[in-house]
Amino acid sequence: MTYRVADDRGGVRAHNVGDVRVLITGGAGFIGSHVADELADRGHDVVLLDALLPKAHGTAEPPLWTKRHEIVLGDVRNAELLDSMLSGVDVVCHQAAVVGHGIDPSDAPEYASHNDYGTAVLLAAMHRAGLRRLVLASSMVVYGEGRYACPEHGVVRPLPRRQSDVDAGNYDPRCPCCDALLDWRKVPEEAPLDPRSTYAATKLAQEHLAAAWARQTGGNVWALRYHNVYGPRMPRDTPYAGVASLFRSALRNGQAPTVLEDGRQMRDFVHVTDVALINALAVEQPAPDGVLEAVNVCSGDPHTVGDLATELAAACDGPAPLIVGGARPADVRHVVADPAKAVERLGFKAQVAFADGVADFATAPLRDPVRS
Ligand SMILES: NC(=O)c1ccc[n+]([C@@H]2O[C@H](COP(=O)([O-])OP(=O)(O)OC[C@H]3O[C@@H](n4cnc5c(N)ncnc54)[C@H](O)[C@@H]3O)[C@@H](O)[C@H]2O)c1
Ligand SMILES: [Zn+2]
Repeated sequence: MTYRVADDRGGVRAHNVGDVRVLITGGAGFIGSHVADELADRGHDVVLLDALLPKAHGTAEPPLWTKRHEIVLGDVRNAELLDSMLSGVDVVCHQAAVVGHGIDPSDAPEYASHNDYGTAVLLAAMHRAGLRRLVLASSMVVYGEGRYACPEHGVVRPLPRRQSDVDAGNYDPRCPCCDALLDWRKVPEEAPLDPRSTYAATKLAQEHLAAAWARQTGGNVWALRYHNVYGPRMPRDTPYAGVASLFRSALRNGQAPTVLEDGRQMRDFVHVTDVALINALAVEQPAPDGVLEAVNVCSGDPHTVGDLATELAAACDGPAPLIVGGARPADVRHVVADPAKAVERLGFKAQVAFADGVADFATAPLRDPVRS
């Protein structure tokens, strides 16, 4: 089978792969379901595994959009189930995780159990099955704060933000050498890792577990560090939903989207169909043996959180955003991905422009509210 893959200069290159059978954990979720569609559309054979966690799903039935696929309802922490499912599988695409930032340390066991123990059980089962290819859903949260430069001292690790600065509306972090306010830079994959939340710590631990597995077995891993993913099937208005979903839910209720700080926080909003595309490219092109290769997954076209709220308000014909100041303790100021490695290593270039993705998101179907 031949695929045509966009190159970084707007052209395409041909790419040959055979069809593969892919186990997608978390395949009923927001991102996993799009990965399943993309892989199936490209002629691959997919099987989904999902526990339909009550915190993520509104019903105990798989969402309608998974109906076209083979789906097994079960838990990735169930070793026997994995043993029965892995026979005949060529690649595992591991999307299953508990997401969101967590509320307080009482939810740490749940994050660690699903995200890290679950990954450990999966890796052991892959080892028993002699399976060597893993695509892992990682996250930009492994970086913590983004990358910053001081006009005087170049790239520096920023100081934690002071409450007095936040209260005075100075949201940018300061230089540890001279106290100047810093400018953001693009974060490359080799940037220091500094997870700030329970969730972030468990996402980084997934990478470490997978890297150890690759070293021990000669297996290979793409760790895809997704930035801010948005698009159809996003969960609706829950504490676990991303900012795009919260803005849209407010607008659908006739309310203005509420934007923290001054709205100038920089992010990279990447459309979920582009995240599915890079997963397919990673399934089709093995990483080098024995290592985990981390790759940023982003659009390469950063925008502020305020831009997102303004565009979405216009697309929904709703009230203009309310900029309310303040900052939450775990919030980082700017995180902007460097897209170069994804282009170079996987031939990935995001296809959905911000304006088009946001306009479509204004009316896109979202996932039902969670069961309480
Ligand atoms: N949404 C984002 O912006 C974003 C950003 C960075 C990384 N990620 C990562 O992408 C992946 C998918 O996230 P999503 O946004 O689609 O979340 P989601 O909640 O929609 O999907 C996760 C799915 O995994 C399932 N799941 C969780 N634990 C399981 C277990 N133990 N066994 C079987 N199934 C289980 C859930 O039922 C759910 O369907 C996650 O690994 C997440 O950490 C997401
Ligand atoms: Zn300085």
